[in-house]
Amino acid sequence: MKKITILLSALAVLACAKPQPQAFHVIPMPAELSINEGFFPVKGAAVAIDENIDEASKAAVQRFVTALETATGASCKQGDGGFRIILNPNLAAEQYSIDIRPDGVNVEASALNGFVYACETLKQMLPPAIYGSQKAKADWVLPCASILDQPRFGYRGMHLDPCRHFWSIEETKKYLDVMTAYKLNRFHWHLTEDQGWRMEVKKYPKLTEIGAWRNGTCIGKDWSSNDGIRHGGFYTQDEMREIVAYAAERGITVIPEIDLPGHMIAALASYPELGCTGGPYEVWTRWGVASDILCAGNEQVYTFLEDVLTELMDIFPSEYIHIGGDECFNEQTGIPWDHCPKCAAKMKELGIKPGPAAKHYLQNYVTARVQDFLNAHGRKIIGWDEILEGDLAEGATVMSWRGVAGGIEAAAKGFDAIMTPYTYLYLDYYQSAEVDKEPLAIGGYLPLQHVYSYEPLDGIAPGAEDHIIGVQANLWTEYIATTDYLEYMLLPRMCALSEIQWCAADAKDWERFDASLDHTFAILDAMGLNYSLDCRGLIGLDRQPARTPEELEEYLATRNIGW
Ligand code: ACM
Ligand code: ZN
Repeated sequence: MKKITILLSALAVLACAKPQPQAFHVIPMPAELSINEGFFPVKGAAVAIDENIDEASKAAVQRFVTALETATGASCKQGDGGFRIILNPNLAAEQYSIDIRPDGVNVEASALNGFVYACETLKQMLPPAIYGSQKAKADWVLPCASILDQPRFGYRGMHLDPCRHFWSIEETKKYLDVMTAYKLNRFHWHLTEDQGWRMEVKKYPKLTEIGAWRNGTCIGKDWSSNDGIRHGGFYTQDEMREIVAYAAERGITVIPEIDLPGHMIAALASYPELGCTGGPYEVWTRWGVASDILCAGNEQVYTFLEDVLTELMDIFPSEYIHIGGDECFNEQTGIPWDHCPKCAAKMKELGIKPGPAAKHYLQNYVTARVQDFLNAHGRKIIGWDEILEGDLAEGATVMSWRGVAGGIEAAAKGFDAIMTPYTYLYLDYYQSAEVDKEPLAIGGYLPLQHVYSYEPLDGIAPGAEDHIIGVQANLWTEYIATTDYLEYMLLPRMCALSEIQWCAADAKDWERFDASLDHTFAILDAMGLNYSLDCRGLIGLDRQPARTPEELEEYLATRNIGW
């Protein structure tokens, strides 16, 4: 009898329970938000899209509506009384507003990015199942709220290295999907490396016949070893166009990188005449900074680069092209430019005096030639912060990776800069101090809270702040060979990055962000993405419990780890 009474009262509660909006856990946190009384039921809500809105924005809204229909199991008819999607030319391109009342939801933006971000905010305000493909059990509601939102930085980047390990087009699209969910807008695609050339170039077929494949990979940190497994792959021009289009539909610009004049062994293996010695060269099977680089004194090299960049520009419409420029010189193994008659002749012609700085001036010459070529075609260059050494030509944008010093110097000298310091934003670094429980990483220690704490304008000279055009995290893949591990390193650290990029400095709040993470994890689950739970004390891909503080101290002492 007692059991029946309990059951009946539980059923009575359920019968009159109103659907409840969930707590507000949107990342990155919107700039202006007020949560009001009441809620709007979304199941089967009508949708009215302003006919003046461009087709790409309509398609973005339609993707949201389709997700809503799948999750609620009810179709959204066209018409009034529900979601009204309105073109508001007074808003900036990445700005949007959302006004949720019991009788309808107004969404306003002026361009694609604003509409994409409004939809992503609405999705995060709903239960995580909106990201999945299953029908949800309960009816859903949105809390009444007013939002006016825009980003802090215009350039909000995430990088991916498909050269050390190759990632398929489908994996790359999944990467773009999660970037979209967290309102990132630049995808830096590092397409060339010592260990593999990934871009189909019609004029130079050997780049992908030879350069896209390596005869094995070193095992763990033993760079002299080789697992004997051929590794590689490349993207056809059609596939790269597919990525450009997929990203553009989501408000993301793809910035391709051709890393030069260093990190070029795969190209040299394909066309040995482009090196100072003529080779032979082999696509690299180990990591680190190679000795061999492009010959700076050989005109054929510039023809090659211009041909490659011409095909690249035809595929990638981005204003910026990344030309690399990092780690050109390995002082230990020697610098081929120091022993090359062609490079010596070029230095003489340019009036570069012999000495330790000569190589930087010769690199400046290579950079400037490529920059002139790209500028003549209406494009601008980004280069890693090594391009600042010597005399960098006006108009280049510097990507500060060796800490923050390059960005500070670039901004002080009047160059634009993008902050990607390894001290905060290298997502190939460990995120737990308990490295024996983690999959092998390149080193370092960048736990989530440390990433979150980064302030990009720290140290920037007063008045030079506007030269910091944005922030990016980098994901190099020397030690990352599986999708599970790639996503594990990316997430949730990329979510922390999104608040650095989007939120005003004083709007960041670790406690609020941390409290939103369980919702984030549920979203990532629904998207079918792996992520790290190190911030919750579950370490590694197999989520082992963290050591106690005493055990950790003991462990670190035995490992002699200097963090
Ligand atoms: C870099 O990490 N070598 C740019
Ligand atoms: Zn040379």
